[in-house]
Amino acid sequence: MLNASAEAFAPATVANLGVGFDILGLALREPGDVVRVEHRDEPGAAITLIEGDGGKLPHDPDQNTACIAANTVLKTLGVATGVAIRLYKHLPLASGLGSSAASAVAAAVAVNALFGEPLTRPELLPACLDGEAAVSGWHADNVGPSLFGGITLITGTDNDQIRNLPVPQGIFLALVTPAVAVPTAEARAVLPKMVSLHDMVAQTGAVARLMDAIYRADVPGLARAMEQDSIIEPARAHLMPKLAEVRAVARQAGALGLVISGAGPSLCAVCDTAQTAQTVAVAMKKVYDTAEIESVARHTTIAIGGAQVLRINDQPVSKS
Ligand code: HSE
Repeated sequence: MLNASAEAFAPATVANLGVGFDILGLALREPGDVVRVEHRDEPGAAITLIEGDGGKLPHDPDQNTACIAANTVLKTLGVATGVAIRLYKHLPLASGLGSSAASAVAAAVAVNALFGEPLTRPELLPACLDGEAAVSGWHADNVGPSLFGGITLITGTDNDQIRNLPVPQGIFLALVTPAVAVPTAEARAVLPKMVSLHDMVAQTGAVARLMDAIYRADVPGLARAMEQDSIIEPARAHLMPKLAEVRAVARQAGALGLVISGAGPSLCAVCDTAQTAQTVAVAMKKVYDTAEIESVARHTTIAIGGAQVLRINDQPVSKS
């Protein structure tokens, strides 16, 4: 079935979950990017509007992550015509919240919806990875949770290497994004190339504790295990302004643990009530306010379902 227009939402993500470097991630209920697509006669995807990026994102279809993902979906469907894309960015760029992945996922899901959803979610994965690859490499630690939702274990880029883990009840997140640039390439360049056997055992032990806590729905245990990162955070800490202060303030305000979100600079605190998450978000922002560093604070929870079709032919589709 061919629709006239389709609109999709794809959530922001928190990759790594501290100790789970490059292998764990979760989807946030908000914020997320929205993509609206319509048919056009010319083949391929073209951007007609980008809102919310401050003019920073490329409109070139070969460089724009949403266009690249849309083109892979069109190719997969064997469609000769094209789509016009409007991208509404609600995620800050290069902030450790999976901005490029959210745009790619929203575009892939929207184009699929335009054609009556012939492809399953797993079948959209390669298109999302294509889009993400243009900006931050061929990896699924943001694309996986944004597309499938929940907490995901990502051990590769094939569908059978991405597993949805149980999402414990009573987990709430406070996030703060300071206005400092931490390019992912730089945040990866500072990482050690080799680790000692001692550190390897400590890190794998912490990941195992985290998985155990997730399966037992033990939110305090989960938060404690996330923080037991003896390799990645120590190497990156100097790139995240006020990390120690924000962690201390978050704890005082009731957070159970705090980690760097993705490659940073966003920080993510785990809480056990919505009220605490709100209080923690405000407290974390105050640290940056005092240091005269601009920041945005949010509180939210985990999005179970991942990306959602919002509208078909301008009619709302119920959001789960
Ligand atoms: N896992 C990546 C990193 C960021 O920490 O470098 C998310 O793609």
